[in-house]
Amino acid sequence: VTLVDETIGAQLILSYTIYNERPVITRNARLVNTSNQELRIEKIASMQLDLTKHDYDVISVPGQYALERQPERQELRRGITEFSSRRNSSSHHMNPFVALVDKNTDEFQGNALGVLLVYSGNHQFTLEKDQIDQIRLITGINDYNFEWVLEPGKDFQTPEAIMGFSQCGLNGMSQVFHKLLRDRVARGKYQYADRPIVINNWEATFFDFDDKKLDQIIDEAKPLGIEMFVLDDGWFGHRNDDNSSLGDWFVNQDKLTGGLKRVADRTHEHCMKFGLWFEPEMISVDSKLYKEHPDYALHEPNRGMTLSRNQLVLDFSRKEVVDNIYNQMCLILDKVPLDYIKWDFNRNLTEVFSSAADAEHQGEVSHRYVLGLYDLMERLVTRYPNILFEGCSGGGGRFDAGILYYMPQSWPSDDTDAVERLKIQYGTSLTYPISSMTAHVSVSPNQQTGRSTSFKMRGDVAMSGVFGYELDLADLTEEDRQMVKEQIKFYKAHRHLIQYGDFIRLESPFDSNTVAWEFVSPDKSEALLFMFKQLHTNRFEINNTKMAGLDPTIDYHDEMTDKTYGGDELMNVGLFRDPTHTGDFTSEVHYFKGK
Ligand code: DGJ
Repeated sequence: VTLVDETIGAQLILSYTIYNERPVITRNARLVNTSNQELRIEKIASMQLDLTKHDYDVISVPGQYALERQPERQELRRGITEFSSRRNSSSHHMNPFVALVDKNTDEFQGNALGVLLVYSGNHQFTLEKDQIDQIRLITGINDYNFEWVLEPGKDFQTPEAIMGFSQCGLNGMSQVFHKLLRDRVARGKYQYADRPIVINNWEATFFDFDDKKLDQIIDEAKPLGIEMFVLDDGWFGHRNDDNSSLGDWFVNQDKLTGGLKRVADRTHEHCMKFGLWFEPEMISVDSKLYKEHPDYALHEPNRGMTLSRNQLVLDFSRKEVVDNIYNQMCLILDKVPLDYIKWDFNRNLTEVFSSAADAEHQGEVSHRYVLGLYDLMERLVTRYPNILFEGCSGGGGRFDAGILYYMPQSWPSDDTDAVERLKIQYGTSLTYPISSMTAHVSVSPNQQTGRSTSFKMRGDVAMSGVFGYELDLADLTEEDRQMVKEQIKFYKAHRHLIQYGDFIRLESPFDSNTVAWEFVSPDKSEALLFMFKQLHTNRFEINNTKMAGLDPTIDYHDEMTDKTYGGDELMNVGLFRDPTHTGDFTSEVHYFKGK
C-alpha cells in the first residue's frame, strides 16, 4: 500500500506479507523522500493495528538479568500502556513481544494475537484504549533519542513486525511463532540441523584456565559422548578478568602457549567440534584497540564515560569500526578451524553519541549501531556459512528475532539453576522455538542461586532445550559420569523431536508447584513428556498431567514404564506422577511411541 503526502513530498510504502498456510501477517513501512528538501523523521512505526471495542488482556514479557522473560498478564485499561526498551538492545527487561488475548484465553483455548518486532535495538509497543474502547497498537523503533535526517531521494526502512494469531490459546499462538521463526527467520546450515551437544568451560573455569586445563576438559568430554567444546571468555589479549582486552582479538599467549589452533586441532582429533567466544561490540580501556583508537568507543565529548562490567561499547554506527572488528575476526577464523561462535554482548549502551557524526545526525546513532551490528553478522555468516553462531547477552538480554536471523540459537540466561530455568524456558517459549534456546547442566549447588538440585532434574530441564554442559567434567563423581552418558544417549535419540517437534506447555511454573511440557512429532506418532515438581508437599495435589496434541484414536506405548495408554486417555485422564518421588525438585520423563 503506497500512501502519498503531496504536501511535504513523501511516500510511505506499507508492505504486507500474507501467508497461504499460516495465520500470520507481517508488516513493515518504508518512507521515501520524494521532495527536494531534507525531511526529519522523529518517529516511524513498523505497524499500526486498530481493533474495535473489546475487553482484552495484554501479555508482555519483562525480565531482568538472570531472570529473563517472565510473562505478565494484565487487563488492558483506558489510556496508553507502553512496553519498551531504551537500552539500545532488545534487553533483559522487556522482550519485543506482546500478545492481546481474550479474557477466557488460556494455554489451550481462546483467541491470542501476538505481535513480535524483528529488531535488536530500542523498541516500543504502545497500546491505547480510547474513549469508545477502541484499541490501537503501534510498534516499531523506539522514538526515544531517535531522529533521522532523510535526504531528498533517500528512503528509510523500518524493521518488520510479525502478527501471529490462534483461536487455540497461547500454545496455539506459540506454535505459530515457533514454526514461522524456524522456517522463515532462522536460516543457514543449522536451520533444521540437529544441534551439537556442547561442553562450555565458562562455569567450570571462568577466566582461570591454561592449555593443560582445556586439554583435560576436552579429553574428559569425548568418552561421554559430548560433541563440541566451546572455549568461552578469556582466551584473547591479556585477559585474566573482566578489566581488559576487549577489542584485541588475538590469542592470549600466556594462557594458550600453543595458540588457538592447537586447541582446535586437539578438539578435532577427538572428533568433536570446536567453538569460541567473542564479544565483538565491546572495547576495554585497557586494550591495544583503545590505545590506538579511543574515539572508537561510544562517548560524549568532554564528559565522563560510563563503564559497565568494566567495559565500553564500540561505535558500530561507524563502518570503519565494524571493518576493524571484522578484519580481526577474519584473521582468527581464517587460521583456526572453528565450527561455532558464541557472540556475547554484556552491557547496554550509554552515551549514545558518535564522534563521527555531527549534531544533526546524533539521533541516528542508536539505529545505525544496530545496522552496523547486522552488517557485521551478515558478513560473517556469509563468509563462514559452516559456522554455527549462538547469540548471548549477559545471559538472555538480546533474545530476539533480529538476532535469530543470523544466529539460529541463543543463550537464554546466565541463570543455570534448574528451578529458575523452568520459568525462564517456559517464558521464552511463549514466542521463540526450542531450537533457538540453549540450556546447560551446571554444578549443584548452583553458582547463581546456591540451590541444590539433582543431576537428573538439571539434565531434564537442560534437555528441554538445545542441550549441553557447563561444569568441570573432571570433578564429576562416577555416578554423575554414568548419568551424563545416559543423558547424552537419551538426548541424541530424541533431540530432533525436542528441537523441531511441536512444543506444548501443559502446567505452568508461574501458576503451580508442578510443571509439565511435552514435545509431539508433527505426525503425532511420538511424544516426549517432561514433568517436574518444585517443592514437595504432603498436601494432596492433583498429580495427573493431562497431555495434549496426541492422536485420540491410537494407543501410545510408554517406553519408560512399558505401559500402553490410549491417546484419548492420556489427554483426558492424564498420566499419574510417580508417587514415590518425594523430596523437592524432582522430574520424570516419559517417551511415548504411537502404535
Ligand atoms: C556472559 C555470558 O552470558 C556467559 O555465558 C559468559 O559467556 C560470560 N558472559 C563471559 O564473560
